[in-house]
Amino acid sequence: TQAMASTTVLTADRMVDVDKGKIIEKAAIIVENNVIKAVGTERSISIPEGATVIALGDYTLMPGLMDMHVHLTSDASDHGYKALAVSLPRAAITGVAQAEKTVMAGFTTVRNVGAPGFADVALRDAINDGDIVGPRMFVAGPALGVSGGHCDNNLLPYEYDAYSEGVADGPWEVRKAVRRNIKYGATVIKFCATGGVLSKGTKVGAQQYSFEEMQALIEEAHLRGLTVATHAHGTSGIKDAIRAGVDSVEHVSLLDDEAIELAVKHGTYFSMDIYVTEFILNEGAKAGILEESLAKERIVGQRQRENFKKAVEAGVNMVFGSDAGVYPHGDNPKQFARMVKFGMTPMQAIQAATINPATLLKQQESLGSIAPGKLADIIAVPGNPMDDMSLMENVGLVMKDGQIVKSLAM
Ligand code: ARG
Repeated sequence: TQAMASTTVLTADRMVDVDKGKIIEKAAIIVENNVIKAVGTERSISIPEGATVIALGDYTLMPGLMDMHVHLTSDASDHGYKALAVSLPRAAITGVAQAEKTVMAGFTTVRNVGAPGFADVALRDAINDGDIVGPRMFVAGPALGVSGGHCDNNLLPYEYDAYSEGVADGPWEVRKAVRRNIKYGATVIKFCATGGVLSKGTKVGAQQYSFEEMQALIEEAHLRGLTVATHAHGTSGIKDAIRAGVDSVEHVSLLDDEAIELAVKHGTYFSMDIYVTEFILNEGAKAGILEESLAKERIVGQRQRENFKKAVEAGVNMVFGSDAGVYPHGDNPKQFARMVKFGMTPMQAIQAATINPATLLKQQESLGSIAPGKLADIIAVPGNPMDDMSLMENVGLVMKDGQIVKSLAM
């Protein structure tokens, strides 16, 4: 018997061509096995014999969404001291549930930027082995940071001698930590350049790694072919990370004009989580977020939204990053409407969650747009999100790697 290719044809009233930045009306896509074979219109395409046709009507087809900042092994109800009671195995099991919610919301790829115990590696492997349903995962393992910094755990007093696994001080320790993370399965490196909102006792604007440490860390990761993401709210930390060659800066709250110029010059990506502030301020206290963190958020959230607009206007490379895990997984798409409210066109917001992250991750040959030869990661959104970005919150159909993960009947 001859092995038959399975062919699916998707048609819809609209498709977002993120490469050209335009809408194709009455679009048709031919998918063979897990690869996009052809893209055109209902008129221009001839339906191969034996193909399964999914005619969607008033829907908008677009590439599978990509979130560059999630923590799938974290649950939004366990903040502050509540998090101390969550064991590593429990966090991994949380990840199973959160991975499914994430892909059902239309995110076929995520970058997991920090997980204790390499639980993210286990989750990725379980998804790739077909044991559980979830997005493609690029994983960091434990995020690297200085002793007492944002990526350390500062909740317990001295006598507990408690440090996070990602703590590394000095150029050679950070190089060794990068090598350790790669050894255990990391495909990206995440480090904390400055203080943060949700960490106890850190100053959100203060730089933590020195330029020398950042240079060593980033050089080591690049030697091994990995990209690097840095958590940075404070201005000097943002700028030193960009000068040291970081691939993406996360949060980027307290920017100045020079930081924007540097990002444009270096081609650095900004991943600005402008939705999460609403969750932190409205629901954070009952989830266990400390009062000192709420106080920091009140300062940072507003500044970040103003600076998001400036970065967009200056033409910085922008990627969608949500920090889901701090807020509930599956709510990731709520950020789209805010991205438009704070300065992007709808097309820019969709590009920030598709072709831009694919390029950041150096996966643009296989991911990020609906084009012949790319992997069939495709979603359908009801109606026209170009007129109303909140429609991104109701993704109807999800195809990942040619498989229908969510169908309209569900
Ligand atoms: N994980 C980040 C931190 O603790 C969350 C910051 C959220 N706030 C914001 N406005 N983006 O620093």
